[in-house]
Amino acid sequence: MAKRAEKLKLGAFLMPAGHHLASWRDPEAQADAGMNIGHYVDVARIAERGLFDMLFLGDRIGFVAEEREILKRTNRNIAHFEPITLLSALSQVTQNIGLAATQTTSFMEPYNLARKFSSLDHISKGRSAWNIVTSHTQDECLQFGMDQHFEHSVRYERAKEFIEVVCGLWDSWEDDAFPMDKEEGTYFRPEKLHVIGHRGQYFSVKGPLNVARPPQGWPVLIQAGTSGPGKELSARFADVVFTAEQDIKPAKEFYSDLKSLTAKYGRAPSDIKIMPGVMPIVGRSRAEAEDNFGKLQDLIHPDVGVNLLSLMMETDMSVFPLDEPFPNIDVTGKWSRAKMIQDLARERGYTIREAYKNVAAARGHRTIVGTPADIADGLEEWFDAEAADGFNIMPPVLPGGLDVFVQTVIPELQRRGLFRTAYEGSTLRDNLGVARPRFGAKNGSHKN
Ligand SMILES: Cc1cc2nc3c(=O)[nH]c(=O)nc-3n(C[C@H](O)[C@H](O)[C@H](O)COP(=O)(O)O)c2cc1C
Repeated sequence: MAKRAEKLKLGAFLMPAGHHLASWRDPEAQADAGMNIGHYVDVARIAERGLFDMLFLGDRIGFVAEEREILKRTNRNIAHFEPITLLSALSQVTQNIGLAATQTTSFMEPYNLARKFSSLDHISKGRSAWNIVTSHTQDECLQFGMDQHFEHSVRYERAKEFIEVVCGLWDSWEDDAFPMDKEEGTYFRPEKLHVIGHRGQYFSVKGPLNVARPPQGWPVLIQAGTSGPGKELSARFADVVFTAEQDIKPAKEFYSDLKSLTAKYGRAPSDIKIMPGVMPIVGRSRAEAEDNFGKLQDLIHPDVGVNLLSLMMETDMSVFPLDEPFPNIDVTGKWSRAKMIQDLARERGYTIREAYKNVAAARGHRTIVGTPADIADGLEEWFDAEAADGFNIMPPVLPGGLDVFVQTVIPELQRRGLFRTAYEGSTLRDNLGVARPRFGAKNGSHKN
């Protein structure tokens, strides 16, 4: 139990009406959630009341209008706010909770992105985080002058260079670059200004950035790709890693693999916090929890379920019969989740219908159905087994699913000494227990 000095880290992973694919149809869901700022304000306050480390917004930039007859049945990625804009607003109605926005390295420019995150970090007084993704859907590229997404390996080469440029831009100014001395008439110290002058394979950026160094040095860096190149990128740069595992064995393997890889980049295992996603379906009794879950699962239209499965498998799954065994799909060159789903479907003998139901619940993440004590047991087991440093909590329906977690599961975790009873510090780095990068740090060696 030596690990109890360490507490669980918790993210509130938000989707507009909740994570379950059919969440918006739940009688208690906020159907217009994606475009309703009042809804997000309520959710942010609930999460902060629960002392969550951060709010986390995933993002896909667009969708394929050709699929409108299927997509009309879902709210997912259809009409929702851009994450940095939304988190800027939420920073003004919260004080402590971290604010994590997903932004892709495949379709952005490093300069714009560095500037936005630096601004968010100042606006929120050191609470921002960037979830670095490379994007896995083909359609997002269509908004950016491309017909085809980059190859998987190119996505990661680009991402590496992109992050190096962004971190270099955040270090355009040393921490004490702005004396703003009215008497002397000196606004900034020229010797504290640095120009990266980057010319690389994918980007050419002169710098400097016209925003002062972020309060956290660099916003917290989150990575969520779990393929080989994804792991290398995490080991090099990430403070936090999000994963999607359903079983403890692969979760433990991933945890120990990634922690041992940190040495290659001059970092310590504790520099990275690994947080698998978990969808908690809470009930006062197990029967009530099962009943809540069943009701949600029954709301999934098969077309929507198969469409999501196709997206996750990067393959058109509608050509296969619904109630036949899961087919053999070549997952080479596809994102890591495709292989995870295929392995799980084979291991559990799923049909297409069973596979989409499994995926639709939490998109490949773990689901725990039960009482608050059952949920706490499930989290404690993985934490103690070194399968996780914390969890990204994925409420099935919002705001209700988060509210019940805060009211019932958080006190149970606190009672077991697993979770904080007050925020430790004022920045997200303080609360997560990850170091503030020194000025000029390179390749993730934050503390040198
Ligand atoms: C918890 C979690 C959340 C993710 N959120 C997003 C997201 O919001 N947008 C996105 O484009 N990709 C998202 N991803 C995908 C990854 O960041 C990554 O780009 C993808 O997994 C492909 O890389 P891989 O093959 O290394 O896994 C997420 C992955 C995980 C595990």
